[in-house]
Amino acid sequence: MDYQQMVAINISKALSDSLSEEEVSLLLEKPKYSTHGDFAFPCFSLAKTMRKAPQLIASELAEKLDQQQFEKVEVVGPYVNFFLNKGLVSNDILAKILNEGDNYGNLSIGNGGNVTIDMSSPNIAKPFSMGHLRSTVIGNALANIVAKCGYTPIKINHLGDWGTQFGKLIVAYKKWGNEEAVRKEPIKELLKLYVQFHEEAEKDTSLEDEGRKWFKKLEDNDQEAVELWKWFREESLQEFNKIYKLLGISFDSYNGEAFYNDKMGAAIQLIKDSGLLVEDKGAQVVKLEEEELPPCLILKSDGATLYITRDLATAIYRKNTYDFAKSIYVVGNEQSLHFKQLKAVLKKLGFDWSDDMTHVPFGLILKDGKKMSTRKGKIILLEEVLAETIALAEQNISEKNPNLPNKEEVAKQVGVGAVIFHDLKNDRMNSVEYSLTDMLKFEGETGPYVQYTHTRACSILRKSPLQEGQTSYALQDELSWEVVKELQKFPAMIEKANKQLEPSVIAKYVVDLSQAFNKYYGNTHILLQDESLQARLALVEAVKITLKEGLRLLGIAAPEEM
Ligand code: ARG
Repeated sequence: MDYQQMVAINISKALSDSLSEEEVSLLLEKPKYSTHGDFAFPCFSLAKTMRKAPQLIASELAEKLDQQQFEKVEVVGPYVNFFLNKGLVSNDILAKILNEGDNYGNLSIGNGGNVTIDMSSPNIAKPFSMGHLRSTVIGNALANIVAKCGYTPIKINHLGDWGTQFGKLIVAYKKWGNEEAVRKEPIKELLKLYVQFHEEAEKDTSLEDEGRKWFKKLEDNDQEAVELWKWFREESLQEFNKIYKLLGISFDSYNGEAFYNDKMGAAIQLIKDSGLLVEDKGAQVVKLEEEELPPCLILKSDGATLYITRDLATAIYRKNTYDFAKSIYVVGNEQSLHFKQLKAVLKKLGFDWSDDMTHVPFGLILKDGKKMSTRKGKIILLEEVLAETIALAEQNISEKNPNLPNKEEVAKQVGVGAVIFHDLKNDRMNSVEYSLTDMLKFEGETGPYVQYTHTRACSILRKSPLQEGQTSYALQDELSWEVVKELQKFPAMIEKANKQLEPSVIAKYVVDLSQAFNKYYGNTHILLQDESLQARLALVEAVKITLKEGLRLLGIAAPEEM
């Protein structure tokens, strides 16, 4: 039921159609405070045409309205405030949610179209950074959100698995490496070798030449070089997969940079044929003066390709393969120029679908106000961070609920949920201050708080399940009304999160719903045996459904007990 429409129709009639329903709807406001009603109609703009004071228009209008639909209609100065009939609305919305279950909030705006999501995309043989964690978590939530809107998400892990560094790594491994050590701790060991290479290369300049030689071998498909490269890639991926498994995140494709080795030629040819490729100090570039961007370097003077050359081939491949409706890149803000240039070059090539590409940037993760760096040995092993939050969650559960069955599983859901929620709760462009104690709190804006609220709802329903076959869920009191109003917002929140590609909209929403419900829970005798018991249980069930679904969209589990 669209209440705004209902109110607008009513007003339009009372005004004898001097304003259409649509015109009224545009003027209707949603008051900030519930004491001002659910909708307010300002009469200022009518004053001119009606040649009357807005206050007078408001009071005359109120008299002509069909007031039966409302609990009350109030005139306050130039405003007419509408208070919806709580019984009517709560019955409508609760029946809808119970009927739709976890389909509540599903939208069809996507029409099944594909949305490619470039996410996570760590670099082989290098640590999985905090930035990669953010990209993984934000990308996954966006995949769930676009799917909820009727799109088909395609999650692509664009691995950084190619580049001259692999030549150096091969040299270092052949000189100082140890197979067993690499198998045991691939990232740590490979990073060590890489660092060692640079240290030694300062003393012995011939090493750089050797690195170049081995990268050339790799490019020329030399068997030994390719085998080592493949092995580094596999070992690294296995280690990354541990993190993905903990987070419960999977991918539809792991086509990374190397996949485009044989696809860049065609892209470069296309740029040449279009006459866009020009020489600039020996290099080949596309000028982007009209776009007010620096020139886009396509080929270095020695003919070598660049990061963006690969991304050009990638974008074209994705369009041809998936015919995407939207193509999203969840990558740190520091690459924003790169994506501007990428889109600009594609647009110049006449690919209008470049307008459907969006860079979704995000802020840094800070520790004590400083950027968390993964370089120079300051490696924060993400796995260790996650292990720590899980351990803390387990400790918490052991104190509060020692007899909980499947304690380990729940601790994992709570620990991991805390990390994900902490990342997603603020606008993605904000930086995130990394604090384990903050994210694990059971009150305030945290994952455990929302999960805990969900378990409260589950616990009530275990004590007294909702009976089937009820026909009315009318609730009249103020506290349940606040919950009902939150419940009703869910579809609009999903639409907003999709439009802005902003998971925090959902995170903030589940906190608001939790707060409204906890207030209700603390001040209502829900299980009282009276004629409204089933309606109250329906409210609890609807909250349970909506919180669980909201958390799912964020990529967070909702345990029944914790
Ligand atoms: N591997 C890159 C990095 O760690 C991110 C890749 C993002 N995706 C892309 N298509 N450029 O910075």
